[in-house]
Amino acid sequence: MSTSWDPALYLGFDDHRSRPFHDLLARIGAEAPRRVVDLGCGPGHLTALLAARWPDAQVAASDSSAEMVAAARSRGIEAEQADVVDWTPGAHDDVVVTSAVLQWVPTHLDLLPGWIAAMPSGGWFALQVPGNFGAPSHVLIRELLDEPAWRGRVTVRGGDAVPEPAGYAELMAAAGADVDVWETTYLQRLTGEDPVLRWISATALRPVRDALEPDAYAAFRAELAPRLREAYPARADGTTWFPFRRLFAVARTP
Ligand SMILES: C[S@@+](CC[C@H](N)C(=O)[O-])C[C@H]1O[C@@H](n2cnc3c(N)ncnc32)[C@H](O)[C@@H]1O
Repeated sequence: MSTSWDPALYLGFDDHRSRPFHDLLARIGAEAPRRVVDLGCGPGHLTALLAARWPDAQVAASDSSAEMVAAARSRGIEAEQADVVDWTPGAHDDVVVTSAVLQWVPTHLDLLPGWIAAMPSGGWFALQVPGNFGAPSHVLIRELLDEPAWRGRVTVRGGDAVPEPAGYAELMAAAGADVDVWETTYLQRLTGEDPVLRWISATALRPVRDALEPDAYAAFRAELAPRLREAYPARADGTTWFPFRRLFAVARTP
């Protein structure tokens, strides 16, 4: 699914969005990788963490979005524009990280076994994806899109965008890898008005924004906002709890 990305909007919740990357990195045991690859690097602020962790490694980054590649380059990351479906591991790609990307790639379960099999021996393939497609934030979008005013105008991913954690574990194990798979639900405390709507505007709502004219998109958001407020009520102190489930899978190649 090709949709436009807004780096500034995406960075709006930087602390919450970055945390899973740190958690993923903590489970990669590579000591002296030759090359470290960040697939779907986004604005590149997290790619910089890879260079900091492995200063002697060559760090390669790519993303399918021209806007994100430009944002990453403006930080000094040598990112290239490429679709992850076209990626194949190089002989020195000892660490591959892909964080919050593969949920956008419907074929990723078909691609994973080949990627792992083609990596160098003792390599690390580490992925993180949101596991919240059944959460109100996503279900409410799908429900609204199914109402007569919106039906047939936008296609968004259903609840099957990613498998359960065991799905990743099975695939990686079948490829002969050592497997480390887990899930975490971050209870995120957001501030400000309509924070869940602002959060999903940078991610889950992008296909809606891309498919609709600006006026229609504004109308869609206006209809969605009160439903989100009901599902994620503001607390007395003005903050809002936004539970966010994420899945992690790290494969160590044989
Ligand atoms: C939610 S952002 C994640 C960025 C960064 N990895 C992070 O953890 O913050 C998702 C990124 O995946 C990229 N992306 C989506 N589909 C892609 C594809 N098929 N190939 C490469 N990048 C893709 C988007 O352009 C976007 O920059």
